[in-house]
Amino acid sequence: MKILFYGTKPYDKIWFEPMAKDYGYEIEFLELRCTKETVFLAKGYDAICIFINDYVNAQMIGELAGLGVQAILLRSAGFNHVDVRAARGKLHVLRVPSYSPEAVAEYAAAMLQTVNRFTHRAYTRTRDFNMNINGLMGQDLYHKCAGIIGTGKIGQAMIRICRGFGMHIVAYDPYPAQGLDVEYLPLEEVLARADVVSLHCPLTKETKHIINRDTIACMKDGVLLVNTSRGALIDSSALLEGLVAKKFAGVGLDVYEEEEGLFYEDRSNDIMEDEVLARLTTFPNVLITSHMGFFTKEAMQAIAIETLENAYALENGLPLTNEVTAD
Ligand code: NAI
Repeated sequence: MKILFYGTKPYDKIWFEPMAKDYGYEIEFLELRCTKETVFLAKGYDAICIFINDYVNAQMIGELAGLGVQAILLRSAGFNHVDVRAARGKLHVLRVPSYSPEAVAEYAAAMLQTVNRFTHRAYTRTRDFNMNINGLMGQDLYHKCAGIIGTGKIGQAMIRICRGFGMHIVAYDPYPAQGLDVEYLPLEEVLARADVVSLHCPLTKETKHIINRDTIACMKDGVLLVNTSRGALIDSSALLEGLVAKKFAGVGLDVYEEEEGLFYEDRSNDIMEDEVLARLTTFPNVLITSHMGFFTKEAMQAIAIETLENAYALENGLPLTNEVTAD
């Protein structure tokens, strides 16, 4: 198979190149993202492989199918960046549904405790030889309540971690996990009870801006909010208002609704044009990172293996267990 990789970074090559050799696949690594301007480069390839900020719409799917591309291989679990409906009958869309839920959940916990205990600020203070701890007071998590939104693989891993802190768990998920010993409640009740809210649902029509002015109003004052799922789960303007109104003790964001084209790039010499993002970076109790919850060696290895296994299944007519369909 010939596979064109879009949106790659040096670490993608490190993991994929040696493994692709074992499968006998020919891979071309592009740094360019997959866009309507770059999609034509897929001519002559059997599949393209994309990451979360490569948005593939209906028109691009038509173009890819016309070029003879049979599949879009996602190096991700999330698939909101591909028009799966448009792909029906034209292209297979294959994802990596579970590479390391723990990687993301452990990162969510790291963000939670960073903004809770201000270790991001303590780090810079001690480097400035400022050993003052004023303003860095956090709160115990022990016996507090964690509200988990989405109890799939990552949500369940986060629940295990929160239990380790001695927290009580309440959860919201319209499709509750069977046999999971947690108290499921309506969203508003979860938000009203939680001292910590952690988002672990996918981005869909239903979940877009699930955290908005109204749902923020349901939350306790002094709540800690963590989003390691997808940026558009949160209405960023409503979040800004909440931050200014001192609603949140801390907010950890590994994702941002306008991250496309910003995250994963070094823009340190540019003027930040996104005024919401610029404002968000000014709050001492907000930590923003560049969509890196997945980024552990175990997860990278699993992503590479599963992506190439998806290609192998396609090539050999095996069942496509990781296919994403419009259903
Ligand atoms: P999963 O598919 O195992 O679980 C998702 C859960 O969300 C399911 O239980 C589902 O029923 C629930 N859900 C669906 N609609 C919902 C709604 N309206 N409200 C509340 N819950 C709802 O997915 P997994 O592996 O746990 O991943 C969750 C999300 O994490 C992914 O969709 C992706 O957006 C994000 N993610 C982020 C990464 C990062 O690097 N920051 C890496 C990997 C995933």
